[in-house]
Amino acid sequence: MTQDELKQAVARAALDYVVEGEIIGVGTGSTANFFIDELSRIRDRIQGAVASSEATAARLRSHGIPVLDLNQVERMSVYVDGADEINHQGAMIKGGGGALTREKIVASVADRFVCIADGSKLVDVLGKFALPVEVIPMAVAAVTRQLSSMGAAPVLRLKDGKPYLTDNACCIIDAMDLEIRDPVALEQVINAWPGVVSVGLFAVKGANVCLLGTVDGVKTMKF
Ligand code: A5P
Repeated sequence: MTQDELKQAVARAALDYVVEGEIIGVGTGSTANFFIDELSRIRDRIQGAVASSEATAARLRSHGIPVLDLNQVERMSVYVDGADEINHQGAMIKGGGGALTREKIVASVADRFVCIADGSKLVDVLGKFALPVEVIPMAVAAVTRQLSSMGAAPVLRLKDGKPYLTDNACCIIDAMDLEIRDPVALEQVINAWPGVVSVGLFAVKGANVCLLGTVDGVKTMKF
């Protein structure tokens, strides 16, 4: 099976977690895109979706799925999203696609985070994938120094030779060379630095369920 077929399999399996008649939170990235495509098949059975990025909103709309403003939504049962890495406790690195802040906001309003990932995303220790940190542009140098001082190798994310800008008009610093043994503590530390909008560690509130795509089928991990 190809990686895309594994992503498609977990995206399809996630439909079982969609609650009929409700609003669902939807993540960003290639796996989330497969989920949106699957969701379109049952779009008449949900009220609509809250998107974690402009890209996700556009894809949902292109499938005729109503996109709601999070400010109009009090709660959601489920948020479905991919991950760049997930450990055996359900802590994740996210933000490879740059949508970490909105992903964290939408996920915070949902009762359950259902992570959908191909098997390559499961790790013992988080940190091989560079940890994205979304930063107010004027704080880039200060946060870069803070990351260096804790032993990381921080790199400002670029697009077409210029700083990459998120949907929130902020920058992303990708922190490489981290071995994250205590993701909850690191999330709290980095989040507290002035200028940090959010860090792509989802550990304080991690996944509740992970649907992992493997050659032996979709495995369900519960945390
Ligand atoms: C987007 O900002 C990310 O958090 C993605 O959810 C994550 O990078 C997983 O993306 P893929 O499904 O494309 O691997």
